[in-house]
Amino acid sequence: MNSAIRVGQVTKNFGKKNVLNNIDLTVDSGQIYGMIGPSGSGKTTLIKLIVGMDAPTKGKIEVLNTPMPNLNVLQNIGYMAQSDALYPELTGYENMSFFASLYKLKKAEQKERIAYAADLVDLTSHLSKKVEAYSGGMKRRLSLAIALLHDPQLLILDEPTVGIDPELRLSIWNELSRLKKTGKTILVTTHVMDEAEKCDCLSMLRDGRILTSGSPSKLKSQYQVNQLEDVFLRAGGTSL
Ligand SMILES: Nc1ncnc2c1ncn2[C@@H]1O[C@H](COP(=O)(O)OP(=O)(O)OP(=O)(O)O)[C@@H](O)[C@H]1O
Ligand SMILES: [Mg+2]
Repeated sequence: MNSAIRVGQVTKNFGKKNVLNNIDLTVDSGQIYGMIGPSGSGKTTLIKLIVGMDAPTKGKIEVLNTPMPNLNVLQNIGYMAQSDALYPELTGYENMSFFASLYKLKKAEQKERIAYAADLVDLTSHLSKKVEAYSGGMKRRLSLAIALLHDPQLLILDEPTVGIDPELRLSIWNELSRLKKTGKTILVTTHVMDEAEKCDCLSMLRDGRILTSGSPSKLKSQYQVNQLEDVFLRAGGTSL
C-alpha cells in the first residue's frame, strides 16, 4: 500500500533534552491515523517534524514521497497547529481569504472553498467579526477551516477539537470520515478516547517513544481489555 507519511528512526533533542527517541511510524494513504499520549510525550514535536517546521536530530521523514522539509509539499498538506496562528485584527473572512491567497486559489474557487469550510465548522454567521472577538473554540474552528481551504491530500491536525462542543465535534469527525472516503489521509492527535476509537490506526506515545501501535480493535485484543484507555495503562506497564 502507498504510504503518505514515513518516519524512520527519528530522534529529536532540544539541547541536552531528548524529546523523541527512535520513532518509526508509517501512515498509509487513505487512513485516519491517531496519535495519543500524555501531555509532553512528544506529539506536537513529531507533528512539527513531519510538517517540516523543524528538523530531526537523527532519522528521516518522507511526506507524499518527498523528503522533508520541503516547501512544495505544503501545498498538499492542511496543517492545523496546536496553537492557533491567526490574525486577531482581521475578520474571520479576511483570515480565510489571506490563507486562500497563499495557497494560490483563484477568486471564484476561494469564495466557494471559504463558504464550504466556514459552513463545516459552523462559523458562517461569524465571518465578519474580528478574530480578537472570537472565543477559544471559535478560533480552533477557524484554524480547522483554514486547514481545509485548499482541499489538501493530507490533513495534519494537532488537537483539532479542543474547546469544541460535542455536537460540532461529531460533525467534524463525520466530515473527517467523509474526506477519508474521498481518498484523503488524516493524521490527528487527541486526548479524547472516543475520537481515538474512530481512527484506523493508533500510536501511543510516552516519553518520546511509541509504546504500541495498531488498530483500536487489535490493540484491545492484544492487551485483553475492553477500553482503549486500559490499553494505554497496560502498554505503559500499569497492572489493572
Ligand atoms: N522548542 C523546544 N525547546 C525545548 N523543549 C521543547 C521544545 N518544544 C517542545 N519541548 C519539550 O518537548 C516535550 C514534548 O513536547 P510536545 O509539545 O511535543 O508534547 P505533546 O505531546 O504535544 O504535549 P501536549 O499533549 O501537552 O500538547 C516537552 O517536554 C516540551 O517541554
Ligand atoms: Mg501537543
